[in-house]
Amino acid sequence: MKILTVIGARPQFIKAAAVSRAIAAHKSIEEIIIHTGQHFDDNMSRVFFDELNIPQPLYNLDIHSLNHGAMTGRMLEKLEELMLIEKPDIVLVYGDTNSTLAGALAASKLHISVAHVEAGLRSFNMQMPEEVNRILTDRISTFLFCPTTKAVENLRKEGFEDQPCHVFNSGDVMYDAALYYADRAKKPEADIPPDFILATLHRAENTDHADRLKSILEAFNSIAEEIPIVLPLHPRTRKIMNNLGQSKLSSNLLILEPQGYLQMISMLKNCKMVMTDSGGLQKEAYFFRKPCITLRTETEWVELINSGVNKLGRFEKENILKAYKEFSDFPVDFPESLYGNGDASQKIIRFLKEF
Ligand code: UD1
Repeated sequence: MKILTVIGARPQFIKAAAVSRAIAAHKSIEEIIIHTGQHFDDNMSRVFFDELNIPQPLYNLDIHSLNHGAMTGRMLEKLEELMLIEKPDIVLVYGDTNSTLAGALAASKLHISVAHVEAGLRSFNMQMPEEVNRILTDRISTFLFCPTTKAVENLRKEGFEDQPCHVFNSGDVMYDAALYYADRAKKPEADIPPDFILATLHRAENTDHADRLKSILEAFNSIAEEIPIVLPLHPRTRKIMNNLGQSKLSSNLLILEPQGYLQMISMLKNCKMVMTDSGGLQKEAYFFRKPCITLRTETEWVELINSGVNKLGRFEKENILKAYKEFSDFPVDFPESLYGNGDASQKIIRFLKEF
């Protein structure tokens, strides 16, 4: 069996690290990787391949820094060309990025089966490019690997039971990765304070609205008076913050370059709390038993909200401060096994092999 994996953005490298390791355990499966180039800075891409031993991509399309249509369109064209040459049995895509949609669309037009890892997630916010990408990708996938029971339920409500496809609750491959790399994580860098909150910020809905970004940064400033905040910053957000002017930021807000996965894991282990608009980091906070304030108006990971380990801070300063105070005042109980047992990757590959 030949699997062609399409990846391009940071969280996909982490998911592929787990699944590619599971593929490598089967001699009868050949995997080739195409990197679309969507994320291209060394610290957004190369570092993950180096640290996580992901097989080197056979092709790098070097497509990035374009508007959504142009980016997705150029990827689609190039991926179709390469799929015609490589003739895979299955195209494997992850998550909800432009690279995911381009990979799934190119394959489905060539009648190649698409396997979508992280299927069935919904924010019900069609303004998010990610929501559009994931709905379209799910619709044209043959194998839909859901990380949660909620994701399976979302697909059922959309009528997937009547579609010619296979929906399977595999658990979350990011949990596999977190477990595998937890012991291999590096010590925190020397300049990381002993007590701190770990924060990230990159979603278009926050970075592309100056008022939202300002309000979140004001909340960070207030909280940083009590406890330092460590903020590894996505290049998109850094560019925008440079334009807004950073002069009013607290010196207790420690802005770092994007960090590698092992350093992120180490900071997750050592931090007191997480504040983020990232999908992946919300779950990683839970894996490492840290309360999380989500800097969005909704989340796909509703089981975290329902169990009280995650609060929607949204973007208004007052809301974020309220969530911070509640987490500071009351201890949090973490439920077990919301995302499977850490063997999602093996289950996915076994399913594909036996199919
Ligand atoms: C993308 C995904 C999002 C995912 C995120 C993870 C889409 C629509 N969005 O968002 O689902 O959560 O990745 O990080 O696919 N840039 C750099 N250097 C880099 C990478 C990006 O400067 O290494 C710049 C780009 O040139 C662009 C901006 O950052 O100006 C945004 O990058 P883009 O790939 O459009 O989306 P992300 O915000 O990373």
